[in-house]
Amino acid sequence: MYVAPSILSADFGRLDEEIKAICEGGCDLVHVDVMDGHFVPNLTIGPVVVSAVAKAATKPLDIHLMVQNNTFFVDLFAPLKPKFISFHIEEEKHPHRLIQKIRSYGISPALTLNPHTPPEAIEFLLDEIDMVLLMSVNPGFGGQQFIPSVLEKAKRLRAMIDAREAKVLIEVDGGVNGLNVRDLDEAGVDIVVAGNYVFGSEDYAHAIASLKV
Ligand code: DX5
Ligand code: ZN
Repeated sequence: MYVAPSILSADFGRLDEEIKAICEGGCDLVHVDVMDGHFVPNLTIGPVVVSAVAKAATKPLDIHLMVQNNTFFVDLFAPLKPKFISFHIEEEKHPHRLIQKIRSYGISPALTLNPHTPPEAIEFLLDEIDMVLLMSVNPGFGGQQFIPSVLEKAKRLRAMIDAREAKVLIEVDGGVNGLNVRDLDEAGVDIVVAGNYVFGSEDYAHAIASLKV
């Protein structure tokens, strides 16, 4: 299992130190939650802060857009060269076009699904993307409770990916901890995002290691 700590739960007054601690603590990606106050009822960070995150990080960035105007934000964050940019399928009329735009920047395109969105919604985009991010909470806030139906969804999605012989990773985001990570692994998940579980712990390296099942 790959681990992507969400910096939403970090201490933003000591952001540089916090990012270095997760990178030295063995994380695989640094998960960055971008919220615009419209698609979700919360507002986070823009390119000024994310460029400071990119400078401090020694691991690739995984940018999770929770915004209305996806194309605008893709253009804004592309110069920071993240590994992944994911956008919500519920908020995009022309996902195919946006996927191509992200790919043209040399960035891996990823699609995000809210807890209620079936995996079939993206079936005909699976050949175009590198990752699917399944939300296991309602997007907007850290520290919420894991929604267990994501396990069934991950299994269905894994079967769809395998049937198409596509090379697509599955990432799960929200309420992940040392207890549910095994079920996620069995459901075919490749990457877990964890905010509170990592940044709320005494020892980040230990928390990250406990998710690597
Ligand atoms: C929620 C964000 C998550 C969040 C996860 O909208 O996308 O990345 O920070 O936090 P935890 O792991 O605390 O649920
Ligand atoms: Zn996220």
